[in-house]
Parts: sequence; C-alpha cells; structure tokens
Amino acid sequence: MSNKCVLVTGAVRNSGLGMARKFLQEGWSAVITSRVEADAQAKAKELTEEFGVPCYGFGYNPANAKEDVEVLFEKIEKAGLELDSVICNAANLGRWMNPLTVEAEDWIEVLMTNVVGYFLPARKAAAQMVRTGKAKEGTVIFIGSVNYKDALPERSAYVASKGAIRSMTKALAIDFAPYGIRVNCIAPGPIWTTRYEEMDPKEAEERRNLVPLKTITTKENLGNIAFFLASENSQNMTGSVMFVDGGMDCLIAGGY
Ligand SMILES: NC(=O)c1ccc[n+]([C@@H]2O[C@H](COP(=O)([O-])OP(=O)(O)OC[C@H]3O[C@@H](n4cnc5c(N)ncnc54)[C@H](OP(=O)(O)O)[C@@H]3O)[C@@H](O)[C@H]2O)c1
Repeated sequence: MSNKCVLVTGAVRNSGLGMARKFLQEGWSAVITSRVEADAQAKAKELTEEFGVPCYGFGYNPANAKEDVEVLFEKIEKAGLELDSVICNAANLGRWMNPLTVEAEDWIEVLMTNVVGYFLPARKAAAQMVRTGKAKEGTVIFIGSVNYKDALPERSAYVASKGAIRSMTKALAIDFAPYGIRVNCIAPGPIWTTRYEEMDPKEAEERRNLVPLKTITTKENLGNIAFFLASENSQNMTGSVMFVDGGMDCLIAGGY
C-alpha cells in the first residue's frame, strides 16, 4: 500500500468511480464524494472491501461549494488524511438550455457547480499540501471536456464552464508552480457512462461511428490518464490540457 491519498469529487458512479478505482488499485487511499453522503459512504465501504485499501466517502455538493468545501475538509482533516492529489470531476452537464428561455438561476448554477465547485476544493487541497509538505509532488487534475473549444447546441453554460476550466488550469498551474504543485486538465470526448448504457444500442453505435478511432472513452481510460497525471511519470507537465477523445478533436464537423 502506498502512503498517497487522492480526493475525487462525484465518484460514486461513471468517470469519477473509474478514476477512484484506478488509484485504489495502485494502492492509494481515496476520498470519494457525492451530493448524497450516504451514497459516498456506501460506495467507499464497497471499494475498501474490494481493494483492501482505505476509501472514505463524504458529502460534497459543488453547487454549494463555498459552504460544503469547508465541511468536506473538516472531515478530511478529522480522518487524518493528507492529500497528494485532487481530481475535480463532479459536474452539471447543463443539457437543453435554450439561451432564450433558460432560467437565469439554472444557467448560473452550471457555472457555480463546474467552475467554483472545482476551484474551491482545488485550492483547499493545495493549501493542505503546502501545510503538510506534500506540495512538491502534489497534483490537481481537472476534468474538462473537448467542449472547452467547440460547442454543442443548447449547452452554452456547460461549454462556457469547460472553457473556464481550461483557463483556470493555466492560471493555477502558474500560481501553484512555486510550491511544486502541478495542475493539468483532461478533456474527454464522449465517455461511456450509464447514459450510453440506457441509450438505444443503435444510437450508441451511430455515435461511436462518428469517432475516428470508433471508440467511446471509458472510465478505465480516464483512470489511466488521471493516474499518469498524478504520478512522477508526468513529472514536468503542468498547465496541459489532454484530449482523450478517440481523435474527435481532429475531425472537421460534417466531414468533407
Ligand atoms: N459523459 C460524457 O460524455 C463527458 C464528456 C466530456 C466530459 N465529461 C466530463 O467528465 C466528468 C464526469 O462526467 P460523467 O459523465 O462521468 O459524470 P456524471 O456521472 O454525469 O457526473 C459526475 C458526478 O457529478 C455529480 N453531479 C451530477 N449532476 C450534478 C449536478 N447537477 N450538480 C452537482 N453535481 C452533479 C454526480 O454525483 P452525485 O449525484 O453522487 O452527487 C455525478 O455522479 C464531468 O466533469 C463531465 O463534464 C463528460
């Protein structure tokens, strides 16, 4: 077992869970969060039993980050956990937001969740790393999206939030560099989540065929990339935005 510890937000299912599993498999302990603390606790118990490495489940609602992050870190400190890496992953996907009719609060909530909800745990984790002497090998990983650069219909809040995450990666990479903390961003294309499992298989196949590699990114793919970014194998990388999209970013929309 390693003496390293990762915090992953929104990790009881889908990509967050995939990333937490990879770190646990590598012997790191983990803190996973959910808006529903009981769900995080139940999943953490299951993971602890499966991997034989401590996993803790705490509540955190990124839409209410200002208050929740304080409570979350009180619990982290009380459990005696010293973070080496934080992965900000929990997000509001902000679908179907017609810009002419969307409620202002709903639009704002996407930005609060995806931008403020990333910044506050990232800086809190960084402050703890500085205090505990873990900053020199400390890492922050933001889960962005290919949508930081190209848009989707009726997703203006989400697209704007992913643009902000890309910019914040650069800004914090500079601000945290003096302490040694590296900040990188993973920009996935479509990810195989429960959404795909619930989809008509024909539609899933059509979507897969749009990707140059004819693959949809898996949570295991993301786990491997996140672990690389948290490890010394990525030692001199900071401020990077890594596409994990089967080549979608290379494609001109509409073909040729
Ligand atoms: N799915 C894709 O195709 C795709 C593509 C590119 C990028 N991404 C990015 O990859 C990351 C993970 O995506 P995913 O599809 O695996 O995640 P997801 O399961 O849809 O969301 C991750 C977690 O965020 C929490 N969450 C969901 N809606 C929320 C809301 N409205 N407000 C606050 N928290 C909310 C949920 O945790 P609790 O319910 O347990 O709180 C959820 O398990 C996100 O940052 C996403 O933007 C996804």
